[in-house]
Amino acid sequence: MEKLTLAEAERLNNSMITEEHLRIHALNVRYAMGAMARHFGEDEEHWEAVGLLHDYDYEKYPEEHLAHTEEPLLAAGVPAADVRAILSHGYSIRNDVRPETNLEKSLFTVDELTGIIQAAARMRPQGLRDLEVKSFMKKFKDKKFAAKCNRELILTGCEMLGMDVKDVAAICLDGMRPHAEELGLGGTGEPVG
Ligand SMILES: [Fe+2]
Repeated sequence: MEKLTLAEAERLNNSMITEEHLRIHALNVRYAMGAMARHFGEDEEHWEAVGLLHDYDYEKYPEEHLAHTEEPLLAAGVPAADVRAILSHGYSIRNDVRPETNLEKSLFTVDELTGIIQAAARMRPQGLRDLEVKSFMKKFKDKKFAAKCNRELILTGCEMLGMDVKDVAAICLDGMRPHAEELGLGGTGEPVG
């Protein structure tokens, strides 16, 4: 395999991730990465595949996250560049694999950023459907909201990308919104429009 495919990422992820909240997190990151690929004019399916697989070892090894990723994924035939990309989302927390490419910098950033989007959408009757960047930014600035989502990492990632948080958030929202139902973020209110 030259590039990780979506089918292979799904197969590998399903072999390790069973908990619903982790499955949903992987999908959030998948769709955000697809939108980031679109922004950079890159291969959407490929970026989605890397996003989907990024927490491959987290359920089984939460304390040793990313220490059980390189060997099995390389053995499964995942290209070394894609394995590196996955490892680099743990930069400064789990390892010293610095994000270098736009794919890596995007993954590093949207991993945390999508957590805030998810938490914000969950509080709204229309879920993700009418969540706009302005509301996201309010939640981003409120450090007590979804406090586990690391704002410093998000800002570091945006700096690496040379982009504003609000612009990255807008891209992620666009990527995730069409999949609101699948992400459990369809809301409980009446359909819009
Ligand atoms: Fe993650």
